[in-house]
Amino acid sequence: MKKLFGITLVSAALLAGGAVQASPEADREAFANFFQKRFPSTPADDFINGVYSIDATSREQWEQIEEFPPYELAVEAGQALWETPFANGKSYTDCFGDDVTEVRGKYPMFDTERKEVVTLELAINECREANGEKPLKWKKGPIAELSSYLAYEGRGKPINVEIPNADAEAAFNAGQALYYTRKGQLNMACATCHMYGSGQKVRTEILSPSFGHTSGFPVYRSKWGEVGTLHRRLAGCIQSVRGYPPAAQSEELRNLEYFLAYTGNGLEVNGPSARK
Ligand code: HEC
Repeated sequence: MKKLFGITLVSAALLAGGAVQASPEADREAFANFFQKRFPSTPADDFINGVYSIDATSREQWEQIEEFPPYELAVEAGQALWETPFANGKSYTDCFGDDVTEVRGKYPMFDTERKEVVTLELAINECREANGEKPLKWKKGPIAELSSYLAYEGRGKPINVEIPNADAEAAFNAGQALYYTRKGQLNMACATCHMYGSGQKVRTEILSPSFGHTSGFPVYRSKWGEVGTLHRRLAGCIQSVRGYPPAAQSEELRNLEYFLAYTGNGLEVNGPSARK
């Protein structure tokens, strides 16, 4: 079998086999079970810690970093932004309610009237625009700070993504299909690296399992030197296989987020997090 970066390229048939569309709930269970079997010594609720849930060596360094979290300033900046009223005198709480601990856990959600997935970042910009403010850029800066603050306040709440109807199921299936579709010049799918390759090394990095992949976002990456959103990270992964990523907050990436978040149902939100 052909090896690339030390990863055995599994056959397309095997990949397709991972995406049997029975029901989202059956798919979720199979997905969670796959990772729990692959990493039997990782407690299920620890998968929220990405690669550190499966690699003791990097976990130690990471725990030290988390003692003085590099995302702390972003959380503070996000709080200041959240508490600054819009020019029309209204504020984010008029869109999201007064209880800031409840916001993060509601997203991503499927809006049954609009028939599309609404992510936290999309909802933030829609709130701004509804109040006459300019939308923020999607991947970093103020939106990542607001998102960091909301994640921080929402820590400990379980991920509880619902699939309310057939339209929502179609969005989930589209996200799932993207997850298993090979992309880019290197012809690799998310699943190639983060499912069948999870725990293996690519260059200097160990590949994290996808189970719980959304819990810790946004993340402060040392490589970025700042916090960034989930869609920034997804775009980076698609670029790394020399593919052209869909735009941040495009329907494709929102569906992918919906699939990833739903498969992590029951795990805790623990963003923001520190990453390499
Ligand atoms: C060539 C292999 C490769 C492919 C394909 C790939 N990634 Fe990644 N991804 C990585 C590496 C390496 C990292 C950094 C180490 C880690 O956390 O896994 C990473 C990190 C991530 C992270 C951050 C995890 C965390 O805890 O911070 C997410 C989320 C992610 N990838 C999702 C995806 C998704 C979704 C796809 C498909 C669109 C994808 N990746 C495709 C290699 C890949």
